[in-house]
Amino acid sequence: MQHVLRFLGHDHLLAKRISGKRYQQTLGVHRRFLSLYYFASYEIVANVYFPGALGQLGRGLAKILRAKFGSDNVIMSDIVKPDLDIMRSGPYLYADILDREGLHNIVVTHRIDWLIHFSALLSAIGEQNLRLAMKVNIEGVHNILEVSRTHKLRVFIPSTIGAFGPTTPLENVQDFTIQRPRTIYGVAKVHTELLGEYYHERYGLDFRCLRFPGVISYETAPGGGTTDYAVQIFHDALKTGNHDCYLKPDTMLPMMYIDDCLRSLTEMMETDEANLRQRTYNVAAMSFTPHQLANMVRKFVPQLRITYNPDSRQQIADGWPKMFDDSNARRDWGWSHDYDLEKMCSTVIDGIRRLQQESTSALPIDYDVEVKQALDLHRSSGEPGEQKEIIQQAGQS
Ligand SMILES: NC(=O)c1ccc[n+]([C@@H]2O[C@H](COP(=O)([O-])OP(=O)(O)OC[C@H]3O[C@@H](n4cnc5c(N)ncnc54)[C@H](O)[C@@H]3O)[C@@H](O)[C@H]2O)c1
Repeated sequence: MQHVLRFLGHDHLLAKRISGKRYQQTLGVHRRFLSLYYFASYEIVANVYFPGALGQLGRGLAKILRAKFGSDNVIMSDIVKPDLDIMRSGPYLYADILDREGLHNIVVTHRIDWLIHFSALLSAIGEQNLRLAMKVNIEGVHNILEVSRTHKLRVFIPSTIGAFGPTTPLENVQDFTIQRPRTIYGVAKVHTELLGEYYHERYGLDFRCLRFPGVISYETAPGGGTTDYAVQIFHDALKTGNHDCYLKPDTMLPMMYIDDCLRSLTEMMETDEANLRQRTYNVAAMSFTPHQLANMVRKFVPQLRITYNPDSRQQIADGWPKMFDDSNARRDWGWSHDYDLEKMCSTVIDGIRRLQQESTSALPIDYDVEVKQALDLHRSSGEPGEQKEIIQQAGQS
């Protein structure tokens, strides 16, 4: 049986795992020696609260955090009904981030140290449903920051390439540059970055934020963003051989494979605060156009045909960076990506083929059902009360 020993006198509630016998011995030694012993001997273990855990990025991150900290120390939470695998994998709680008291309750009851906040309405869905996007992406963040300040948590909230806009010099986008996004998603993310930095300056809150590019995964469906085509194309290539792209062939955007994305998050969260010269960093891996992606996918699936029918997402993509400069993250905490375009494509295609073989159903996710239907459902919603039903319907379809 392992026990958790909290570091005496430290603000951050980082806990260390030690055996019961060692715990008794350790309590008897001098505090100065204890702190040396502490740093020399044990890995960091944090109690993590993780709202928005059932989205595209959340399930993978929960697996990584649970492998690091132990299943019981990572509380997944969302407003949708989880499948049985999630329920069996560790603690899961229903929690709406618009309910601030409920968040306080969870943080206190479970002695939370880190809060990783993934709940959001993404760019395309946000444009279809302004009022709800403002509630979840702005009011929700206020709740998360207030709860984190009150209980002195280390808090991570992701930002995005969507936090820039058409007036940003889009070629090699720096951490600090013009940010005038034209989507509610982007406006809310700039608000999050600035408010988190303000809480850090004013209250000493350990706020951490990475601007992720479009994230590519194959085990979980994307949630209605502008870069989702780069996931859908793989499923279409293997299912029908035809992909109808909603962006123009030369629309270049920064992208990242999900393993790199989640590793950047855990590495930044584990970085000693003294190494962070800023609170919000770009992280990058590769940039490509739909045309370049289709050519690379054809190396593995030669029969792929692609047509182009730009829709309203083209206008969003036109205002986003083509390339990210992430040199500050590389310098300050050693960020380095692992997946380039070819490695990402071969990994995703192998992964989908493996899942196809293991599964009796045609494909592990059905983009058409899970994402396009979610878009339609969100379009008609305005009230937060309606949202649970809408997201549940989308998740169940
Ligand atoms: N996926 C990407 O390509 C990408 C890129 C850049 C940044 N991000 C950011 O990463 C985070 C996670 O993204 P994702 O792709 O997993 O998003 P997603 O849309 O797949 O998941 C978001 C989750 O938030 C939950 N949620 C919505 N409203 C809620 C509420 N009121 N209370 C609690 N939970 C609520 C949803 O049920 C959903 O499970 C977001 O902040 C997003 O902005 C994602």
